[in-house]
Amino acid sequence: MKSFDIRTKIYFGDNALERLQQLPYRNVMIVADPFVVESGMINQIIRRLERGGIHYTIFKEVVPDPPVDKIAAGVQAVMAAKPEALIAIGGGSAIDSCKGIREFALRMDALKEKIPMIAIPTTSGTGSEVTSFSVITDPAKHVKYPLVSDDLLPTEAILDVEMVRTVPPVITADTGMDVLTHAIEAYVSTEYNEFSAALSEKAIQIIGVYLLRSYLDNNDTHARTKMHVASCLAGLAFNSSNLGLNHGMAHQLGAYFHIPHGRANAILLPHIVEYNSEITKNSKSRTEYDHTVRCYENIARTLGLANFNTITTVRALVNWIQFMMQEMDMPLCVSQTGKCTKEEYFAAIDAMADSALLDGCTATNPRRPTKQDVVDIYKAIW
Ligand SMILES: NC(=O)c1ccc[n+]([C@@H]2O[C@H](COP(=O)([O-])OP(=O)(O)OC[C@H]3O[C@@H](n4cnc5c(N)ncnc54)[C@H](O)[C@@H]3O)[C@@H](O)[C@H]2O)c1
Ligand SMILES: [Fe+2]
Repeated sequence: MKSFDIRTKIYFGDNALERLQQLPYRNVMIVADPFVVESGMINQIIRRLERGGIHYTIFKEVVPDPPVDKIAAGVQAVMAAKPEALIAIGGGSAIDSCKGIREFALRMDALKEKIPMIAIPTTSGTGSEVTSFSVITDPAKHVKYPLVSDDLLPTEAILDVEMVRTVPPVITADTGMDVLTHAIEAYVSTEYNEFSAALSEKAIQIIGVYLLRSYLDNNDTHARTKMHVASCLAGLAFNSSNLGLNHGMAHQLGAYFHIPHGRANAILLPHIVEYNSEITKNSKSRTEYDHTVRCYENIARTLGLANFNTITTVRALVNWIQFMMQEMDMPLCVSQTGKCTKEEYFAAIDAMADSALLDGCTATNPRRPTKQDVVDIYKAIW
């Protein structure tokens, strides 16, 4: 038996932020990305809370790939502020931090009971505002732990394009490719179902039309609004069907070398499509194709890449991913990221492969990888 539900109430469209002044709480704690505070974007939140007569405190110790010590600092802040609700504002790192803080505050009795959480994403990427995932990093052990529990689901999500206007092109590219990877991995996952597939298809359709537009022009409000929704749709998709080897491997690139999450996913994506489909540039046509190949073919068709036959259509998808990365000036391989030397990278491959196989995302990959498979892909992306 399977089930599908959307527990997070989603506010979107024009003036979605107005929801803040209607919140039925008197005291909230905001978990904010420092950029949101320093750029003054936070004023758009504060103004509305003040209009609603809501007292607030701000915790802004959010860093990319949130580490355990920042979660502990957030729990201390909860103990001091005693909020009735938490508001996360920022990219995936801020939202995941807030989820972690709420979870650990409960486990450590800093909160007597679970309090509501409102997530306001400021990147169009992770979909964390609607997922039961929170990715926390242990920097000493080089491990990124995806916590997975319905208890982590935000109560409400507010999607307002005003929050993503300032995202620079490089982050638009990284986070946009994260959305694409979510939608594709959810679509080919072993936990695939028709509900998640519908959400993935819509997200992919939007990405095909609006990601490059968002990258090229910050003021293209229409494109940014669409990508913000696509990010949420892809989040709902993978919240139902989970992800795959792409994320399992990308988490290690983040934990070891701080390669931004979406960039790591993008570098891996063409290789993972080839690996899962077993279609390379030398492949010949076959008499039968498995479910995964059919799914990749559908994705290509959704993007308007329908080509001569199944093999050429899947190849067109791989080429399109690389084309998008080039159009958005993204590195195509790890060496181009400038995050590590060849020696450092190759020395880490064995341990990264072990961790990728243990990562919760890898379990639902359509093809079960061996350690050698994972090592070979890590080598191929250098
Ligand atoms: N919980 C989930 O379901 C889920 C899914 C995928 C990824 N993740 C995690 O989310 C994290 C990545 O999140 P992300 O890609 O959103 O990046 P991020 O939150 O780490 O932010 C990246 C950078 O963008 C900046 N930024 C954020 N909003 C901005 C804005 N509006 N204007 C200008 N700059 C802005 C931040 O200050 C930061 O420097 C990783 O830790 C990843 O593992 C979580
Ligand atoms: Fe992701």
